[in-house]
Amino acid sequence: MFSNQFSFFFVAIASILSWMQLVHGQTISGIVTSSDQSQLLQAITDAPSFTSGSGAADIAIDETTVYQQMVGFGGSITDSAALAMHNLKNANADMYNKFLKNAFTSTGAALSYLRVPIGASDFSSSSYSLDDISGDTSFNSFNISNAPSYLFSTLADIYAVNPNVKIHILPWSPPAWMKDGNTMNGGSLKSGMVSPYPTYLLKAVQGFKAKNLPVEAISIQNEPQNSNPTYPSCTIDASTQATIAKSLRSLLDQNSLTDVKIIGYEHNWDDTSSYTIPMVDDAPNAFEGVAFHCYGGQVSQTAAFSAQFPNIPMYQTECAGTPGSDWWTDVQWYVNNLWSANNTATGMMWIFASADNGQSPYPGSNSCGDGCRGMSTVTTSSVTYNQEYYSMAHYARAFTSDDGSTLGKRIQASGGSNLNVVAYATGDKYSLVVLNSGGSSKKSISFQGKQATFTFPSGLTTLWWTGSNTSTKRMIKKRRI
Ligand SMILES: *[C@@H]1O[C@H](CO)[C@@H](O)[C@H](O)[C@H]1NC(C)=O
Ligand SMILES: *[C@@H]1O[C@H](CO)[C@@H](O)[C@H](O)[C@H]1NC(C)=O
Ligand SMILES: *[C@@H]1O[C@H](CO)[C@@H](O)[C@H](O)[C@H]1NC(C)=O
Repeated sequence: MFSNQFSFFFVAIASILSWMQLVHGQTISGIVTSSDQSQLLQAITDAPSFTSGSGAADIAIDETTVYQQMVGFGGSITDSAALAMHNLKNANADMYNKFLKNAFTSTGAALSYLRVPIGASDFSSSSYSLDDISGDTSFNSFNISNAPSYLFSTLADIYAVNPNVKIHILPWSPPAWMKDGNTMNGGSLKSGMVSPYPTYLLKAVQGFKAKNLPVEAISIQNEPQNSNPTYPSCTIDASTQATIAKSLRSLLDQNSLTDVKIIGYEHNWDDTSSYTIPMVDDAPNAFEGVAFHCYGGQVSQTAAFSAQFPNIPMYQTECAGTPGSDWWTDVQWYVNNLWSANNTATGMMWIFASADNGQSPYPGSNSCGDGCRGMSTVTTSSVTYNQEYYSMAHYARAFTSDDGSTLGKRIQASGGSNLNVVAYATGDKYSLVVLNSGGSSKKSISFQGKQATFTFPSGLTTLWWTGSNTSTKRMIKKRRI
């Protein structure tokens, strides 16, 4: 009796408190990474809240203007990345587990998108495909386990930490025997192999699935305009890529893999107009996204594609830092060109984890002259998070729901000078990411008619709070009447 009354009392108090919070102020949480690196994804201590305010705010959020659905941020788990992680696991399992939790849980960096090569890439230690039996055009000798076992065990460990992780697979080259020159290194697909090749890609999707690693997406070819004789690469023109994609789409559908998306292109910004537009024109129903790398041209060149195909999401799947570059200059570049770009649905760097400064382990490869720095540097006794990781985490954390199950949509936000402002809505979680390229600066923020103020340090700040979509609420009320 007494305990019942008591619990009723507490429930009543809790409801009053949450009502008061809704009406009188929504408390904001946040994390900061400062340009001087004294704070790295550090929780803010001076939490502001939204209270009634008037006049124009410095930063205005408008949740009624909704842009793209976010698909996930992350990096590539190459054979070399998986090996570095596997070696850490064997040497120091606690450090490894902590690393996975930091990177892949929603209260850590909230990374959830992984690109994985089909067969050897320039970050494998040898040349191999998943069917190296010459002339096997029915792929009877296809073997997913040609890839190293530590690749699959590492991916399984990541899944165990974050079951919402999405895997996007793609080849650096078809099997050597399908190419002119009979090598994985450079060259192009033989014209007579265009027709059997989609079956190889289907078998790759099925192979990952058989390893309990469901595939979210597949691309036809990494960097299809690049033929380099020193590492796995292959040229495939736009019209051939469209032909392969149409055939692969049918094969996936016939094999109950309708959910697997085909993503096109996977190359630099500068050839957006000459490659991606004719490719999607040729196969408008096959491609559910196009992917870009940052190594040539300007991100603004992708606007030509968005203008023509506004409903096809834009993935930024590859970019790499160079050892010795300036930390804060890099952070600002990644934010301005990749993470905050208007149409970015997926944001990724190249190698997720590297045991050294990012040298290609492939014998004779010239793919990464000074090194392609990993997002993290992982030895058997240390984990170092690099500028790619910190800058990306601010955005992934913003658009990922607290339980990690849902990713949000970008919504309209405007900011002031020296500020790059992006906002997201993820269910009832609203968030804001501010890159402040100037000095520490106090700003007002408006949301649904209320305002908060926060002093943004020089650096990156992510703020989030619980809100409700007032337009949706009104609609629900109407339905009840
Ligand atoms: C597939 O490759 C693995 C690893 O090399 C090997 O153990 C296995 O026997 C192969 N499977 C077949 C059917 O050849
Ligand atoms: C991004 O969108 C905003 C409006 O939402 C616009 O002002 C800006 O020019 C766009 N930037 C690019 C690079 O397209
Ligand atoms: C809020 O609700 C309105 C009306 O249903 C809808 O148009 C808008 O997309 C919603 N905003 C978000 C961020 O979901």
